[in-house]
Amino acid sequence: MRSRTQSEKRMRAWISASQRLHLAMAGELAVDLGTANTRVYAVGRGVVLNEPSVIAFNKSQGRVVAVGRQAKMMIGREPSSIRVVCPLRDGVIADFDAAEKMLSHFIRRARTKRAILGPRVLLCVPSKISHVAHRAVEDAAYLAGASQVSFVAEPFAAAVGVGLDVWAAHAAMIVNVGGGTVNIAVLSLGGLIHTSTLRVGGTEIDEAIAQYLHQERGLAVGKQTAEAIKHWLGSADCEADGCMFEVGGQSLTTRLPSRVEVSSAEVQAAIEPLVQKIMRSVRESLEELPPEVAADLIESGMVLTGGGAQLLGLTERLGRESGLEVRLAANPECAVVVGAGLLLRPDVPVPELLPEAKLPAPDVLAPDLGFAEAPNNSSSSGLLAAPHA
Ligand SMILES: Nc1ncnc2c1ncn2[C@@H]1O[C@H](COP(=O)(O)OP(=O)(O)OP(=O)(O)O)[C@@H](O)[C@H]1O
Ligand SMILES: [Mg+2]
Repeated sequence: MRSRTQSEKRMRAWISASQRLHLAMAGELAVDLGTANTRVYAVGRGVVLNEPSVIAFNKSQGRVVAVGRQAKMMIGREPSSIRVVCPLRDGVIADFDAAEKMLSHFIRRARTKRAILGPRVLLCVPSKISHVAHRAVEDAAYLAGASQVSFVAEPFAAAVGVGLDVWAAHAAMIVNVGGGTVNIAVLSLGGLIHTSTLRVGGTEIDEAIAQYLHQERGLAVGKQTAEAIKHWLGSADCEADGCMFEVGGQSLTTRLPSRVEVSSAEVQAAIEPLVQKIMRSVRESLEELPPEVAADLIESGMVLTGGGAQLLGLTERLGRESGLEVRLAANPECAVVVGAGLLLRPDVPVPELLPEAKLPAPDVLAPDLGFAEAPNNSSSSGLLAAPHA
């Protein structure tokens, strides 16, 4: 009996040692392949990559000439010999070949030189994803060099990333405003109670600004200029201040390079229909919740994640329109990938797409939130910012 126990112990130790050896040789990465940006978290190193989801090819040979930030700089400025591609649309892969090449590049950059085998990759995917879209992202990850691929729903990862206790018998709400989608989710007891996805995100807001300038001010502007206007003047709040911004583009009347002054009120009016769509979608989600869950949210409120959540006034407006306390995550852009990274710890079973039963116990959420590269807020840990009034 005693010798059997000892051999079991030895066997377990051997399995655990071989698993550790495999992980040391392969490495583990959490990947948030977003419409606008891709982020990679390496276990033990934190967020090691945060780059635009853009890739540029040489048209004649199909050779990759730039990826990420460099490729984004080329949008609207590329010569006829170069094709710049944003491989994702509305949160899913739209150009498989480009997505696979971009992911391969990012995975190669994120891996340590010591890793011999392909990494174990945890991919963050939208909570509602078609079978085809799911297969596309899985295939792209394997072709990009992953040795094992598993999935986690983005809102779940975001909730873990901002430090919410997703295993508690108390509901919490996450609204992730990304480049291509707005994901609304309510979680409790390690599962998703409600999710809804709105195909409106930062990119569509940029397009609304460009369209306004085209129609009302007779100026054609590029995608990057429209995004810059949003960052400078965009607001989700009617009480936007009176800032002005000089915008460069091409006059539609003279066809010559031209500049116009644009006010924050104009930009706010141009994006208001999209802001209203977001408000409506959040309200509809709240209306569908069971009473017990609604009661929980009065206490726990709503947490905003995703780059688009930083739109000026969005937190306050959502607070006013929902009646809940709304907080913006301290590092909203990285919440998803940090959460997925926390779920990727040694000896923890990888959660499934809708990660009900196989989740690790809450103690795996020890705050290993160090950022190798902090994109916006170098002091932030990925946990919540101070609540807004
Ligand atoms: N300060 C800001 N104000 C408004 N929008 C912002 C700000 N900072 C970033 N954004 C917007 O956030 C969007 C990118 O967010 P994020 O990186 O979370 O998207 P994503 O994860 O790539 O997209 P998705 O989750 O929809 O696939 C871009 O549209 C960007 O313009
Ligand atoms: Mg995202």
